[in-house]
Amino acid sequence: MRQVNKDQRVRVSCTVNGVKRLGYAEPRTLLSDFLRHELGLYGTHVGCEHGVCGACTIIMDGLLARSCSTLAVQTEGSEITTVEGLSEDVNLDLLRELFSKNGALQCGFCSAGILASTKHFLNQHPNPTEDEIKDMLTGHICRCTGYAGMVKAIQEFVDWSPERAKK
Ligand code: FES
Ligand code: FES
Repeated sequence: MRQVNKDQRVRVSCTVNGVKRLGYAEPRTLLSDFLRHELGLYGTHVGCEHGVCGACTIIMDGLLARSCSTLAVQTEGSEITTVEGLSEDVNLDLLRELFSKNGALQCGFCSAGILASTKHFLNQHPNPTEDEIKDMLTGHICRCTGYAGMVKAIQEFVDWSPERAKK
């Protein structure tokens, strides 16, 4: 295994939102910092920095990950989707609109992580129950909205077109 000292920056190559990206990171650099400060993707927010609030959630190799609890060097060769990648998705535009309509978006600090989780969740559960939606949202802390609007927005999204929700 390659040995590097703690301050040495190493090359990290991964695919982010469908584009091959190359950057440099110290072995201790968090993925959230790498995305924001090395790759300039500021859509990923950082709150607690210890894996609790969910603000930094991204999709990595098809699974949800807390980017504040993942090291940048662990992403070598990985496929990552951040909120900027989700914004390419027309379904996410609709979901965002419904969040807005139902008061589920206020300061927006939590929204990038919640939209990433919701997209991943709907891929796994195209017709979720209210309890399943609430269970998914337990992975996120929102200081503003009280969550009820988020549940309603996701239900409306699924009701409006289950086929679209599956995409
Ligand atoms: S900033 Fe990563 S979970 Fe809170
Ligand atoms: S909308 Fe402000 S923290 Fe969720």
